Amino acid sequence: MLDQYAVIGNPISHSQSPRIHALFAQQTGQSVQYSALLAPLDSFPITVFDFINKGGRGANVTLPFKLQAHQLATRLTERASCAQAVNTLTFENNEIIGDNTDGIGLVNDISRNLAVNLASKRILLIGAGGASRGVILPLLQQKPLLLTITNRTFDKAEALQQQFQSYGNIHARSLDHFIDQSFDVVINATSASLQNTFPDIPVNVFAVDALAYDMMYSKEPTAFLKFAQQSGVNHLSDGIGMLVEQAAESFYIWRNVRPETKPVIALLKSQ
Ligand code: ATR
Repeated sequence: MLDQYAVIGNPISHSQSPRIHALFAQQTGQSVQYSALLAPLDSFPITVFDFINKGGRGANVTLPFKLQAHQLATRLTERASCAQAVNTLTFENNEIIGDNTDGIGLVNDISRNLAVNLASKRILLIGAGGASRGVILPLLQQKPLLLTITNRTFDKAEALQQQFQSYGNIHARSLDHFIDQSFDVVINATSASLQNTFPDIPVNVFAVDALAYDMMYSKEPTAFLKFAQQSGVNHLSDGIGMLVEQAAESFYIWRNVRPETKPVIALLKSQ
């Protein structure tokens, strides 16, 4: 029997993870079966334990269960603990190990696929929800010159500054604070793209040759990426690469083998 893995969420039918992991398994010759599991909104733990009892070796967790997965884990990696959210569970020796590969997925996409070295860069992270919290530690570990975090609700950005200030140069700034400041990398971690809108930022936040990165992805460029392009930014990316890179990191945690991500990203982008 193939080793069993799954992605658990609600809804789940839209998830690209089974496809991505099938491509990884094919490419690396690993004996892996990866399925999609719909968990009822009130019974995420039951779904996890049921999967473990059926021989599940690990699972990815997606909306809306990342916080519950964090609570269910018997052991957490530092990055999952900082993120207060778990997207990767490993079932091993009667333990449920919780990890979070979203942040390293973003960092790997930016540094390897988009060839932007984050060391000594000025980074602006827009948004202060779970998506932001999940990526701050891996971003700070790249030793940027500064990581500025901004949010429509400023208090939440300030709380993240306090949580992470011992890890690096992080500052919270309100959205109206950017009159004359610019950044080398501007990352949209808000959910505004889902409403086809974007955070209210001035065009000067984009430095010459800046990268504008939206952690969301959709068939059409997001409103944030359209705004960046209209502001003269040429280097634009949505979150497809991050999606594939976070999956690759989960695959590596489970199988100790690193899949090639570039052909998978190219395939997803072409469709
Ligand atoms: P998640 O945990 O998935 O990140 P969340 O906690 O609801 O989701 O956070 C969503 C983020 O997107 C928040 O930073 C939110 O700003 P607020 O904290 O002010 O609510 C931001 N956001 C959502 N819609 C937005 C919009 N139209 N304009 C600007 N920011 C928006």
